[in-house]
This record gives sequence, C-alpha cells and structure tokens, in this order.
Amino acid sequence: MKETLNRIKAEALEQISSDIDDASLEALRVKYLGKKGELTAVLRGMGQLSPEERPIVGQIANEVRAEIEAAITAKKQELSVKALENKLIAEKLDVTVPGTKKKVGHRHPLTLVQRDLEDIFMGMGFSIAEGPEVEYDYYNFKALNIPENHPARDTQDTFYITENILLRSQTSPVQARTMEVQKPPIRIISPGRVYRSDAMDATHSPLFHQMEGLVVDEGITMGDLKGMLETFAKAEFGEDTRIRFRPHHFPFTEPSAEVDISCFACGGKGCRLCKGEGWIEILGAGMVHPNVLSMCGIDPEKYSGFAFGLGLERVTMLKYHIDDIRMFYENDIRFIEQF
Ligand code: PHE
Repeated sequence: MKETLNRIKAEALEQISSDIDDASLEALRVKYLGKKGELTAVLRGMGQLSPEERPIVGQIANEVRAEIEAAITAKKQELSVKALENKLIAEKLDVTVPGTKKKVGHRHPLTLVQRDLEDIFMGMGFSIAEGPEVEYDYYNFKALNIPENHPARDTQDTFYITENILLRSQTSPVQARTMEVQKPPIRIISPGRVYRSDAMDATHSPLFHQMEGLVVDEGITMGDLKGMLETFAKAEFGEDTRIRFRPHHFPFTEPSAEVDISCFACGGKGCRLCKGEGWIEILGAGMVHPNVLSMCGIDPEKYSGFAFGLGLERVTMLKYHIDDIRMFYENDIRFIEQF
C-alpha cells in the first residue's frame, strides 16, 4: 500500500507540474482527491490493514494528500499569475501613441457672416423673417411698386417657373409678405438666397444671398435709418467706420440711397481694396414707398418705415479679402478650411 501511495504521489506531482491549463488541473484534482479518486480508493482499502499498520499508512496517506493539495494550490496560483500576465500583454495600450484626430466641421464663411449680422440686428431688437425662394411675380415685383414693363425688371432678370412664378431676384418680397400679415411696429431682417440670370464671373453668380431689413412704425425717419446703419457698420467693420449715403433709385423706396462705408483697410485714404476711393458700397436702402405701404394694407398717412438690402457675398468678400465669388460655391476644401 505504501508503494501505491508513493506511486500515486509521484504520478500526481509530475502531472501537476507539467504544462497544463486550469481545466486539466481541475481534472487532476478530481482524479486524485475526488470522492472516486485514487487516493480515496486507497484510504477505503485501509480496513484490511492490521491495527499496527493502519496509523502508519494513514499518516503517509494524509501526507500524500496534503502534498498533492499543496501542489494543486501552488499550480493554481501559478496559472492565475500567468493568465494575468497574458491578459496584460494582450491588452497592452501605448498611451504615448498619438491619437487619431477627429475632423470637426465648421461653418461656411457666408454662414459665419450671416450669423454675425443676425447677432448685430437681433441686438437692436430685430427678429428674423423668412420668405419663399420660389416666389410670385406679385411679391417680387408688383407689390414692390414694380409694374409689368417697368425697366427695373431688366436689371433683376431672373428665372421663371411660370409666367407668374419665379425664383426671387431679391429678398425684398419678404417686406411685402411681412407687412401683409403683421401690423406696425415691424422690425425684421430676412437673410436668404436670391437668383438672377447673370453669367458667372468673379463678381456675379446666378445664385447669391441677400439680407433684407425693414422697420415700420409711427414717426420713422431717414435719421433712424442712418443711425441704425451706422451702428451696424461700426459693429461689423469696426468702431472707426463712417457711412455715406449717395442718392439712388429703387422703385419701392423714396427717397432711396446707396450706402457706402469708409474703407476699413485704409481708413478712407484710398487703397487696393476700395480701388482708391476710400469708400466701399455695401447696401441699398431708403424710406418705404407710400404705394408699397398701401398695397400691403398699412396706412402711409399714419406709418412710415425704412428698408435696406445688402449682399452677403459682398460683405463676406470684403471682410475676408476674397476676390472671386465663385469660391463660395465650389466647395473646395482648401478654401473652406481657412475660415
Ligand atoms: N432689393 C434691392 C436690390 O436687390 C436692395 C434694397 C432693399 C434697396 C431694400 C432698398 C431697400 O438691389
């Protein structure tokens, strides 16, 4: 029996120390120490031993069990250390490797300037009104005091969907639409796309953007228009900016003016940006024509108003020194990325 025990011990220790995994180690534990294991079988057979032999064999058997148990515990420990090591190697993370840069988009320069202008005017109490780009001839022309065959139609030739429906050539139709549904006091701006059947070149595009402004209330004068535009010009182009009104003609305003700002590049001395003029034209404006007020259901005896319209591309080109309008629409990332 001693030999059997020694053989079991030698065999068990050898197998435990060999290159095995957790599952095989557990199988060995069952094989040697389990209820139906070899060692248990030997202990069961002890009844046949003489009373003198029994304690001696019993002690050996206990020692063998303890040794096998210790070997298994040690192996288990070894395997778990190894498992952790493998895991650490497999999951190794080099925190010094440079990360992959996430590309975050940003706004188009036209949108940037539009938001700028919206901020400035909202700060002065304006709200934003919208109108359709596909517009009735009525709102684009007739309600703005431009009857059929009026020469102003030639300068704003656009694309017609039907005889009465067209792509709006200006944001001014939003003036009429607003006055029809909203009674004074009115204080709105309206940015958006407009269309003209112009050939593409460095300063023309069949699609471009304007921003309209309209104020109607009792006692509104040209002085209000000037003050408001000066505040706007200083906010957008710098505190030193001055404005200048030049007489002009628009069918829907009377009197009308084209408005220049003092050149923000040279301060008015004359440079390449202002073409030596010292002044840069940025918008058209005037006092809302009494005919337009009446056509929209507002009494011109009681109310007066001013309106203005500026080209967003023009302001953006000035601000960022962009010399070709086509850049805005080509979506060349090398251009767009610069803003
Ligand atoms: N709609 C005019 C244009 O496109 C600009 C303008 C707007 C002029 C409002 C006066 C008042 O040229």
